Amino acid sequence: MEASARISLVVCVLCAATLRTGYGLQTVNAVFGETIIIPCGREIVEDLLFASWKYETPDGIAVFLASRSAVKNKINYGDAPEYKNRLELSENYTLSIANAVIDDEKRFVCMLVTVDNVFEEPAVVKVFKPPSKPEILEQPKIMETGKINRVGVCVAKDSYPDGNITWFRNGKMLLPVDRAVIIVWHKEKNSSSGLYSTHSSLQYLTTKEDIRAFFSCTVTYFMPNGQVSAESDTASFDIYYPTEKVTIQIQPSKKYIKEGDNITLQCRGNGNPPPQEFLYYLPGQEQGIVSSSAYHITDIKRNATGDYKCSLSDKNMMASTTVTVHYLDLSLTPSGEITKQIGDSFSVLCVPFASKNVSVLFMKDSKILTAIPSKNLQYRDSGVYECLANLEEEGLQSRKTFKLTVEGKPKLKLIKNPFSDGKTKTISYEVEGFPRPEVYCSSAGQLVHLNKTEETVISNIRYSAKIIISPEENTTISCVAENRLGREVRSLNVSAISIPEKDERNDSSGTYFLDDSSDHAKLIVGIVVGLLLAALVAGIAYCLYIRKSGAGTKHVGKELGNKEENKKLEENNHKSEA
Ligand SMILES: *[C@@H]1O[C@H](CO)[C@@H](O)[C@H](O)[C@H]1NC(C)=O
Ligand SMILES: *[C@@H]1O[C@H](CO)[C@@H](O)[C@H](O)[C@H]1NC(C)=O
Ligand SMILES: *[C@@H]1O[C@H](CO)[C@@H](O)[C@H](O)[C@H]1NC(C)=O
Ligand SMILES: *[C@@H]1O[C@H](CO)[C@@H](O)[C@H](O)[C@H]1NC(C)=O
Ligand SMILES: *[C@@H]1O[C@H](CO)[C@@H](O)[C@H](O)[C@H]1NC(C)=O
Ligand SMILES: *[C@@H]1O[C@H](CO)[C@@H](O)[C@H](O)[C@H]1NC(C)=O
Ligand SMILES: *[C@@H]1O[C@H](CO)[C@@H](O)[C@H](O)[C@H]1NC(C)=O
Ligand SMILES: *[C@@H]1O[C@H](CO)[C@@H](O)[C@H](O)[C@H]1NC(C)=O
Ligand SMILES: *[C@@H]1O[C@H](CO)[C@@H](O)[C@H](O)[C@H]1NC(C)=O
Ligand SMILES: *[C@@H]1O[C@H](CO)[C@@H](O)[C@H](O)[C@H]1NC(C)=O
Repeated sequence: MEASARISLVVCVLCAATLRTGYGLQTVNAVFGETIIIPCGREIVEDLLFASWKYETPDGIAVFLASRSAVKNKINYGDAPEYKNRLELSENYTLSIANAVIDDEKRFVCMLVTVDNVFEEPAVVKVFKPPSKPEILEQPKIMETGKINRVGVCVAKDSYPDGNITWFRNGKMLLPVDRAVIIVWHKEKNSSSGLYSTHSSLQYLTTKEDIRAFFSCTVTYFMPNGQVSAESDTASFDIYYPTEKVTIQIQPSKKYIKEGDNITLQCRGNGNPPPQEFLYYLPGQEQGIVSSSAYHITDIKRNATGDYKCSLSDKNMMASTTVTVHYLDLSLTPSGEITKQIGDSFSVLCVPFASKNVSVLFMKDSKILTAIPSKNLQYRDSGVYECLANLEEEGLQSRKTFKLTVEGKPKLKLIKNPFSDGKTKTISYEVEGFPRPEVYCSSAGQLVHLNKTEETVISNIRYSAKIIISPEENTTISCVAENRLGREVRSLNVSAISIPEKDERNDSSGTYFLDDSSDHAKLIVGIVVGLLLAALVAGIAYCLYIRKSGAGTKHVGKELGNKEENKKLEENNHKSEA
């Protein structure tokens, strides 16, 4: 009852009294959500009855908020719903409004009422609210060079008053540039809260310079103590740019490629993202082969030598590389197993086919040969011949072999041993030939027992044996040596056991081995021109011809076997001389 009586009194005073403002309009700044403290403005008023707070709506209507009696120390609060439970009126008539909202931006008036006067002290409240931390929304994943790309929308929400957004690239402010930097902003007001949200979109002409660039935005806003700004997190983008160059590489990247290698052609473009598809052009081919990454060639052949190219799948930007496939082949004639007869002529041809000049080397039974037998073949020419060539840098080696077997008819020699123990006489024979000849001996006329020893192997083509006889009478011993190439018969007159033998070394019937000095042509195994694909056949042909030595003559090669063998033969001759 008391309160309503006082209100009616206040209203009465308001109507009647001349309004007298005190120290002028004061401004109170407050932060949203915090407490607004509005001092009454005038401290000492004589004979004060009470103080009363009201606010004024824009159209001039006054709304009572609270009053406090100076004498009774009693407070009354008004019914304004938006201020329910938010007000506090202190002893010095300072009005506190808790939980400031934008709607509190009003003109508040403190009235100090005395018996005969009313003092009005108005105050204007300003409320400030900082925005949320600015965020860059709608960021694209990538940006393409040469195009206007949207960088994003910078949003600062719920500020009061509205803030300003500024864009930055690498920390430098971005200003609008025609057709390069386009900034569009707008603000939205939430009608229920009264707060502003500011949006600013940035569109930007991207170049390769923007690789690893970062963008940010700041919002600048007012707070009670002035301008403040807040910065967003930075945004960066994968910059897509087109390929400006393609390259082609060979893997593995070794210096030489040889036949049988596996290689990979790898085409690359320097764009981002790197191009995924290429056209590979094989040597001499117009039509490209589409491949999504690399082009593999397994077991590469010599005919794959040439220029390899690649381009982007739209046939743009060609790259090229040359591939040389190294190879080394040998053509050796003859091959396999060759059988020749003693004295025959012979030709060997070893031609290298290689990707570069190469020399060939001959070996016989694993020893390097400087000359190849070509005419008048001898037994010692038998063996395994090998033609070799090497391209060391390229890691290529080739070898071809053949096996030569020299055959000959038997040659037989009968030798009388002049020493005798008086009971027996000894005859020796030596036979040579290949295949190994069989030797049969017999005596003519009277039956004489021939005690023949086992054959001794002198070399792989020469054998000897002894024949011990005890002839009662003069006799003739005949021996036949035979292999599939022919036979030779030799005879020797042996006188009766009672008659000592005279030295018959000069016996015309005796066989003898002639010195047949070898006239092998000394051929130098030279550099043989390597051949490229054109396959021009070149090389050194070891091909010389001589007349065949007449069969069945008494010329028997003496140079059989090695020196050791010759020595043995001489010794035997000396023995028979003695
Ligand atoms: C009024 O009183 C409050 C506490 O009740 C105090 O904080 C404030 O400073 C006083 N104001 C004046 C103007 O004396
Ligand atoms: C406006 O603000 C109110 C209260 O703060 C909130 O509930 C509402 O979602 C806001 N409206 C918009 C459109 O942001
Ligand atoms: C925003 O920008 C406008 C015009 O550029 C300026 O008048 C205003 O003061 C700025 N506000 C803030 C909070 O910086
Ligand atoms: C080439 O690749 C094949 C399988 O694709 C493999 O069998 C062969 O050994 C490889 N050759 C070389 C020289 O690596
Ligand atoms: C290359 O030679 C191989 C046989 O060695 C043959 O299969 C292939 O078709 C040839 N390629 C070309 C392009 O001549
Ligand atoms: C290979 O041999 C030919 C003929 O002897 C010669 O003209 C050429 O220069 C040689 N090439 C090299 C790389 O030695
Ligand atoms: C043949 O000679 C050997 C010794 O040279 C002798 O031991 C052997 O008894 C002889 N054989 C005959 C049948 O005379
Ligand atoms: C061997 O004896 C025969 C007679 O028995 C004779 O005709 C022949 O000339 C003799 N040969 C030699 C080489 O003395
Ligand atoms: C046997 O030969 C010797 C010479 O070697 C000769 O003197 C002798 O007369 C010959 N005897 C016979 C029976 O012919
Ligand atoms: C064998 O004949 C040669 C000449 O032909 C001669 O010099 C030598 O004395 C002869 N030897 C014998 C034992 O008659």
